[in-house]
Order: sequence, then C-alpha cells, then structure tokens
Amino acid sequence: MEELLATKLHDEARQGEAYFTALSPSAAEPNYFYIESYGCAMNFSDSEVVASILQAENYFPTKDPSQASLILINTCSIREKAEITVRKRLTEFKQYKKQNPGTVIGVLGCMAERLKAVFLEQEKLVDIVVGPDAYRSLPDLIGEAQSGQKGVNVLLSREETYADISPVRLNSNGVTAFVSITRGCNNMCSFCVVPFTRGRERSRSAYSIVDECRDLFERDFREVTLLGQNVDSYHWIEEGKETITFAMLMEMVAQISPLLRVRFSTSHPKDITDEVLFTIKKYDNICNYIHLPVQSGNSRVLKLMNRTYTREWYLGKIDRIRELIPDCGLSTDMITGFCTETEEDHQESISLFDYCKYDLAYLYYYSERPGTLAERKLTDDVPLETKKRRLQELVDVYRQHSLESMQRDLGKTFKVLVEGTSKKSEADFFGRADNNKVVVFAKGTLKKGDYVSVKIMNCTSGTLLGTVIEK
Ligand code: SAM
Ligand code: SF4
Ligand code: F3S
Repeated sequence: MEELLATKLHDEARQGEAYFTALSPSAAEPNYFYIESYGCAMNFSDSEVVASILQAENYFPTKDPSQASLILINTCSIREKAEITVRKRLTEFKQYKKQNPGTVIGVLGCMAERLKAVFLEQEKLVDIVVGPDAYRSLPDLIGEAQSGQKGVNVLLSREETYADISPVRLNSNGVTAFVSITRGCNNMCSFCVVPFTRGRERSRSAYSIVDECRDLFERDFREVTLLGQNVDSYHWIEEGKETITFAMLMEMVAQISPLLRVRFSTSHPKDITDEVLFTIKKYDNICNYIHLPVQSGNSRVLKLMNRTYTREWYLGKIDRIRELIPDCGLSTDMITGFCTETEEDHQESISLFDYCKYDLAYLYYYSERPGTLAERKLTDDVPLETKKRRLQELVDVYRQHSLESMQRDLGKTFKVLVEGTSKKSEADFFGRADNNKVVVFAKGTLKKGDYVSVKIMNCTSGTLLGTVIEK
C-alpha cells in the first residue's frame, strides 16, 4: 500500500497518520506529544513545524497516545467527511484524559476557526484550539490549558510563513521531504474553504527555502517537493532586487545538486507559465510531472466555480505541456455534481478525461462547505446519488486510462530514486520514476536514497514492476 501512498501526494483523503521520529529526549523527564494529521500535504508539512516548536519546549513525539501529555489533531475542512472523521477521533481521545486528567488535547489546522466554540465550549472536547498561522503561540496556550484555562488562537496572518523554523521531519523515510513555499490562497474558487481556513497567500523567503533544501540534501535527502496551494503564483520580493518567480525559485533549488530531485504541487492552470515549463525541461533533476487540477470539463460550470479558465484554455495548457515535455506525467483533481451540473456537463468532464488521459486523478463528489461562495450564492441541487454515480463513472474511465498509461511503460527504462521497502515484499524496494509512477524492484545491494535504472517488465494499475539494470 505504501506504493499507493507515495503517489498520493495531493490526496486529502490521507487520514490520520500518527507521527513518530527517532529523536531522543535530552532531559531526564521529557514530555511526550502525540500528533495525528489529516488533509493535504500542507497540513502534514505544518505538523513538522509544530513538532519543531514543541521540541524547543522539551516535548518529544510518541506513537502512543496513552504515553502523551499532549495530544494534537491537525485537522482538514475540505469536505464534510473529513470533519466527521476528526470529530470521531476527538471523542476517542477523551479516554486518555479520563486515565490521565492532566493530558492536554488540542485541535490544530483548518477546522480551528470554524469550530473553535463548538469544540471548546459546547462539546468540551478539547483544551486548546490553534489555527494554521498561530503555531508559535502553542507553548503559551499549552501553559494556559495546564492552569485550567481554555487556550485559543485562530488569528490568520498576512506575514507568517514560519520561514525561520526548521521542521522536525516526522515519519520520515530520510529520502524525500516536503518544503512549504507559500501559505494561504487568494483564488476564491467558489467551492473551496481554503481561503477562509488559511487566509491570504504569502510567499516564503527564497533564501530560507533554498537553505532548507540544501540542509536536507546535506543530510542525505534526495528529493524535495515544493508545496503551496498555487505554487505558480509564488513571488518573493527583496527590496531593490528583482522579484523571484516560481520558475526562478525552482531553478535555485535545482542548482543545489543534480542529485537532488525537485517536485512541486499544486499548479493552477491559469498561472502555470511557459517559463515554468521551460525550467522543468532545462533541468534533469526537476521531475517531469505536473499536477494540474481541472475540477470540471464544462466551461459554464468552471465559471460558476470561479476557476477563471475555460475548458479550451485548460486543454491548450495540456497541449503545451505535451509539446514542450512529451514524457511529462500528468494528474488532476475533478469534482462531480457541483451546483447545476447537468448530465451533458458531466459528459464533458468524461470527454476531457478521454482527451487528457491522466496518469493519476483525485476524484471527489461536491460537498458544500459553510461560508464558501457556492454555499452563499448557489444551490447544491444535484442529488447525492447522482453525484456518486457520476463520480463512479469518472473513476471507471480514469482507471482504464491509468492502466493503459502503465502498460505503455512496459519495456521502458526509468531512473528511480529508492524510497523504502515495499510493503508487499521484504525482498523488494519501491521508489518513483521521474514521472511520479511507483516502481517496485528487487533490493539486491541497493540502499535507500540510491538512484537506479529499472527496466519495466510488468505492471498493475498502480505500480510498475521492474528489474534493476544498472546502479
Ligand atoms: N489548490 C489546489 C487547486 O487549486 O486545485 C487544491 C486545493 S484542495 C486542497 C484539493 C482538492 O479538493 C481540490 O482540487 C478539489 O478537487 C477538492 N475540493 C475542494 N473543495 C471541495 C469541495 N467543497 N467538495 C469536493 N471537493 C473539493
Ligand atoms: Fe481552493 Fe481554489 Fe485556492 Fe485551490 S486554488 S486552494 S481550490 S481556492
Ligand atoms: Fe489542506 Fe484540508 Fe486545509 S486540504 S489546506 S488541510 S482544508
């Protein structure tokens, strides 16, 4: 299953991974914290910032919530289902407080702002609630909770990027790491809560990003994924100097070493430029893989979604990518059953899939979110059964395309970065090809972090199976 997880970089369905790292406490009486993360890669990356802030206060991570004096859940609000899961976990965590009344339970992340009153006052599920821009105040809030008060800070910031905090890598494979480059989002897609939960977009200092990536490389990491809700809108301005764009930033990171692979996520169709595509093409170590969420195949629905591009514009981008980077891996996000979506509109989503033939797709049915533009201005009028049926139809089409895409790779040779042991077999490693496809092969004398050439001999719908031909 880890092969699948490795490809699920963008998948908010990643649920509740508890973190652990090999850090050893230095003090005689260390405190332990347990953290469970939900949602997108940004949230997982934030949990590493939180771990760093806590470590400075002599808190160390544990996998066992019963050992922890601080239990944290880093939450996601993107769809209703994500919220239901978090609520269930919080109810379960109450048992640890019963066993040890001094335990502090906290909610972090994207549910904090909306549900702070409910969690703290009405349901009394937690002691602290901390929004995504307020993690520096965690030590104070923990102190307040320990003295019997409720600790809340959900203020969003226009400046906070945690640029100076060196994340503690949790559950790390020691080879690949996420590096946040922007926070927040200015786009206001009508279905999406992110601009409300994470606030305005801000770009992190290019120097701090390059320093973090260089430090990772020096500690034997071999791949960084630059993260933002819309990486293409990255721009960092140093007084009196030229603005650093996303393409320039990628170039700076790629130049750290040809042995450091660079990935990035997520690209927005309206913002990805030729400059970005030429930079990907120019550097061998910038991976030929683009996640380009489309959300709908119909221009009228895209307008209602406030995506600011049409079907034709999007297809033009796909054509341009294929023209400049012919072997580029492509993935997308699509929503079925958005407000007013007709059967004909849905057929356009299917035909767009037939055109793009994605290697990977993350598919969701529309879930109305409180406070969004769609909730305020549109009617959620597609019945749930219809949303689910359309979702299944898209899943079927996508599965066929992804299997065909895998089969097209039979007989090809890929340079693969070794990430870890395959869960299916102790004798095998798994890693990813440049185009993001997961490849499984015999361990031999290889080790994690090696690059290896693998010839593809077989495949499933999610994994390529190969033979090592050269180290
Ligand atoms: N910033 C990225 C973008 O512009 O596509 C990703 C944002 S979001 C974290 C990841 C995906 O969740 C979106 O691309 C969208 O497909 C899905 N999503 C967001 N809001 C949703 C909603 N209300 N219902 C269903 N899916 C939703
Ligand atoms: Fe949400 Fe749109 Fe921003 Fe993505 S670009 S985070 S979908 S508002
Ligand atoms: Fe990510 Fe969920 Fe927040 S997808 S940005 S954790 S609402």
